Amino acid sequence: MPESIFIIGATGKVGKTLVSQIYDKGDTDPLHRRNPISIVGVASSTSFLYDPDGLKETLVRDFASRSTEGIAYKDPIRLVDLLRASEDSVTMIDVTPSQDMLALHRKVIEETHHKIVTANKNPLVQSDFSTFQTLTANPKRYRYRCSVMAGAEAVDIIRDMRDLGEIPTEITGSFSGTLAYITSELEAGRKFSVALSKAITEGYTEPDPTRDLSGTDVANKILILVRTAGVNASIDDVKIVPFIPEKYLSESDPSRLLLRVREIDEDMKLKMDNEMKKNSTFKYVARFVMGEDAPEISVGLQSMPRDSPLGQLRGTANKIVIKSNIYKDRYYAVEAPGAGLLPTAMNIRRDLLYQNGDR
Ligand SMILES: NC(=O)c1ccc[n+]([C@@H]2O[C@H](COP(=O)([O-])OP(=O)(O)OC[C@H]3O[C@@H](n4cnc5c(N)ncnc54)[C@H](OP(=O)(O)O)[C@@H]3O)[C@@H](O)[C@H]2O)c1
Repeated sequence: MPESIFIIGATGKVGKTLVSQIYDKGDTDPLHRRNPISIVGVASSTSFLYDPDGLKETLVRDFASRSTEGIAYKDPIRLVDLLRASEDSVTMIDVTPSQDMLALHRKVIEETHHKIVTANKNPLVQSDFSTFQTLTANPKRYRYRCSVMAGAEAVDIIRDMRDLGEIPTEITGSFSGTLAYITSELEAGRKFSVALSKAITEGYTEPDPTRDLSGTDVANKILILVRTAGVNASIDDVKIVPFIPEKYLSESDPSRLLLRVREIDEDMKLKMDNEMKKNSTFKYVARFVMGEDAPEISVGLQSMPRDSPLGQLRGTANKIVIKSNIYKDRYYAVEAPGAGLLPTAMNIRRDLLYQNGDR
């Protein structure tokens, strides 16, 4: 019996890559996979296709590449209602950046027997802690590894540690490919405005680069990890110091932003030169420390030796460093590409492997 999936966001960059990988790698082929996948639904923000017996490959590929449209819809809850009568469970895959998906995630988990795999961080951050716990309680029904570090081992190791009674005493990480790239370019002597311009041209930044520079995306990621560790926290508990002064963050147009930030080129250069003289550097770091009274969670620029676990990072690489009583004076670290369509799509398929009982 194939495992049914419904991809919401199938016309997006991650969604389209996922559709191609599923077919090209043989996930739908019963000779290749013990539990083959059947795509029963695909949706964009405005239309969907659904067939409980499985959609034809050509139709799904055409939908993903926008060569064909589906049935118009407005409220994503409609997509859950389509599945409710279905006896077999369906995994809804949320690869949208939508702020309006929490209600759908809740409905699937609380009111149906269906499942969720998500790369969308928003529902995990917008929910209160108790809802977060309800959503994520059963990893066979809700998986979210791709919300942090494009699905590298961050969420899963912390969840396993929590379930084994090992709460991390400290988590530090570099979770933004964009900000990692910019600091790496500053180390190489490039001007800040030039590094930012290259990050935009290379497609590392969000369409509005101030979303990276504000630190909120990194704050969302550390919050997801801290909650996964079992700590009751909300976004208001994260102290966020943006990468650049607040006054530039209202400029969402990339070309106007690039002109304006030239005035901080000199400051950034001086700051980095001072670090380099001490054989240190600065990185944009997310940090959680399990304090005696309350957890401390922060994101911001931090000075560190160049040979330290995060100080060594180059280019867009992301890294998580976890300390816990069990590791004593050592630590657990994972370095991986923090973004990228191919690893993200593969890691969504990994979540499906675990969810569908292949692991
Ligand atoms: N890019 C990466 O490397 C990466 C890595 C890890 C995680 N992620 C996460 O993956 C998600 C998707 O990223 P992306 O780069 O693929 O985004 P994208 O290219 O902008 O694609 C967004 C997709 O979501 C659909 N969508 C938008 N709002 C929706 C809504 N309200 N209801 C239903 N569908 C909606 C869009 O439909 P239309 O075609 O109709 O607009 C499109 O199919 C984001 O949450 C992102 O943070 C991305």
